Amino acid sequence: MDLSSELDAAADKLRSHFGTVPDRAIVLGSGLGDFVELWTDRETLPYSSLPGLVPSTVTGHKGQFVRGKFGDHLLLGMQGRLHFYEGYSMQQIVRPVEIMARAGVKQLIVTNAAGAVNAAYQPGDLMLISDHINLMGSNPLVGRSDLSYQEKFLDLSAAYHPALRTALRDAARSIALTVQEGVYVAVSGPVYETPAEIRMYRALGADACGMSTIPEVITANRLRMQVAGISCITNMGAGITGDLLSHDEVTDIAARAMQNFASLMSAALPQFSRAML
Ligand code: HPA
Repeated sequence: MDLSSELDAAADKLRSHFGTVPDRAIVLGSGLGDFVELWTDRETLPYSSLPGLVPSTVTGHKGQFVRGKFGDHLLLGMQGRLHFYEGYSMQQIVRPVEIMARAGVKQLIVTNAAGAVNAAYQPGDLMLISDHINLMGSNPLVGRSDLSYQEKFLDLSAAYHPALRTALRDAARSIALTVQEGVYVAVSGPVYETPAEIRMYRALGADACGMSTIPEVITANRLRMQVAGISCITNMGAGITGDLLSHDEVTDIAARAMQNFASLMSAALPQFSRAML
């Protein structure tokens, strides 16, 4: 089967499993997966049951689609994502996004756990992603000779949709939640950074760093989805405080920030609906 037919088959399976696929999806990063526990009428589908999709191998990443209602909003969730550092190719890790687009998803909210590069941030902060710097060493459009020039030489000057960024900012203000707004840099991982690297990312203009998100954001932009990005700051970048970094700490802080994240989503989603019209 060629790639396009395989993606169509996976999108058909997503549609037939869930009946309807919501037009809005959310990728839940490390520690934020339990956001779906707040949804009603939940149904799940493991990634591994779709053709061409590989399982997530990271602790804290379940590896399934979840469909349900958060308040009045029907959402498709990705509980766990695929990472470049798991040894998957860029094209493999963006497949869920390609499948969701084919199944009718038009808006994508991408979340992650990230280390603070900006020394004024604190663990537990949420950061609205304004822009990104790709230091992963590759991107998912490399080698896609099947794509048109316009899709390959993709304009990313507003990769994070301005109306959705405004909606998130307004929503945070309306619930008196202080959020940060800044630039996310992604590296391949899986090692955390050195203090010298964190200083370099700061000099480059980054505010937070992580190991995901950018491939999905590039693909979602190629597929003309509206994209919003939110980082949960789980730790200070290496060398800022002298504390050592651990994956358990990352998932623990993100889980604790989840309630703020849920409040932010609850306030922002009505405005996201308007942006889609
Ligand atoms: N660096 C990279 N990725 C991360 C970090 C970090 O400090 N924290 C959570 N994800």
